[in-house]
Amino acid sequence: MNVARARADFPALRPRSGRSRVAYLDSACMSLVPESVLRAMEEYYSDYPGCAGRSLHRFSEEVSRRYDAARSAFAEFVGTNAPEHVVFLRNATEAINLVASGLDWKKGDRVLVSDQEHNSNLVVWQRLRRERGIRLEILPLSADGSWDAEVLERALSRRIRLVSLFHTSNLDGRSLPIREIAERAHDRGAQTLFDGCQAAPHRPVNFDRLGTDFYALSAHKMLGPTGTGILVGTPQGLSGLRPLVIGGETVQWTTLTDHELRPPPYRFEAGLQNYGGIIGAHAGLRYLERIGLEAIESAQRELNRDVTKALSGLGRVHVLGPENPRDRPSIFGFTIDGIDPHDAALFLDEGWGVLVRSGMHCVHSWYERRGLTGSIRASFYLYNNRDDVTALVRGVRELLERLPSRPGGARPTPHRGQRAPKARVA
Ligand SMILES: Cc1ncc(COP(=O)(O)O)c(C=O)c1O
Repeated sequence: MNVARARADFPALRPRSGRSRVAYLDSACMSLVPESVLRAMEEYYSDYPGCAGRSLHRFSEEVSRRYDAARSAFAEFVGTNAPEHVVFLRNATEAINLVASGLDWKKGDRVLVSDQEHNSNLVVWQRLRRERGIRLEILPLSADGSWDAEVLERALSRRIRLVSLFHTSNLDGRSLPIREIAERAHDRGAQTLFDGCQAAPHRPVNFDRLGTDFYALSAHKMLGPTGTGILVGTPQGLSGLRPLVIGGETVQWTTLTDHELRPPPYRFEAGLQNYGGIIGAHAGLRYLERIGLEAIESAQRELNRDVTKALSGLGRVHVLGPENPRDRPSIFGFTIDGIDPHDAALFLDEGWGVLVRSGMHCVHSWYERRGLTGSIRASFYLYNNRDDVTALVRGVRELLERLPSRPGGARPTPHRGQRAPKARVA
């Protein structure tokens, strides 16, 4: 299997009559699924549609075996030595919520997040501040993607209980040195949680070597079906968490007055699970592994280098985050002077079949502070190729020609989202 030929394996990208070629550049939101994932899910529903770990009949036995195999495969993929360190959930947001609601907070406990977190790693802490009296500390990040350990050290000196940061940013594609961060945080007695949504699909994560307590990711950003996510945790980390939801499957035994929880990860997977989805996600993982993350990332780097070279030289285009595309290989985030990001996205889709994301990318706080309405984000994955980049570049060039900048407009006009439909703002 080869990254250059991957496009053909993705049904959503196949030519259809009446539809122009699609350049899908929104994989940071969710990736597409290859044929093998669809087949695996169909097989589950048509050949062995059972509940894992409950009934003793053949369907149930088969799904139990496959569900366990998926857990082992994900454990190996994220570099942890035991399948029990992997909890299957609906998405990364649920994984972060599980940690946030599962720790035993005391009033005044401090959580450190950066000033560029996805809402999934921000809102839940804000609620804990309101409801449990924790303190939310903010780690300021540089605009150009450079890392300053001194800033982290200063923040850690405020007796942080948990550091919760992205591994790779969905806004500008920069990555944080999470191994170093985990080490520094642990030296100060803090636990760590990393949001690996934008990192795990692109580069190897060695959970055991990283030394973090928790790592959250979503399988629907790495070829899995929607609604599949994972929390990876150390045995101590997981056993210190109170489950978010309990009931069937989470207990060893019950009486009418009491119960004993099963050990992790089972105590966190209440009720009938998304077996078809997880089995599909496992098929996605196999596909990824056959191509190899290194080949994927290196192909993306080249595409990002090309698009950066072609567009960043145009005076009105401003690239977000690190200047060098090597430091943000999967994401090209940008603004265009005088052009609303949503208008640009609609133009690129309708005129060029280029599907990008526009708006605030669930990092409203970042745009709010800068008075920006949002940005445009092209994100790459293994099925993207030069034709996609060419379409994007031509589309943006045409847009610039057609829509001259408004006089004096150095940046997109701030209008706090009132022009765009709500669904498009996030
Ligand atoms: C950095 C980051 N964190 C969290 C999320 C939320 O992921 P999920 O949809 O799996 O909950 C996203 C999704 O775009 C993301 O990019």
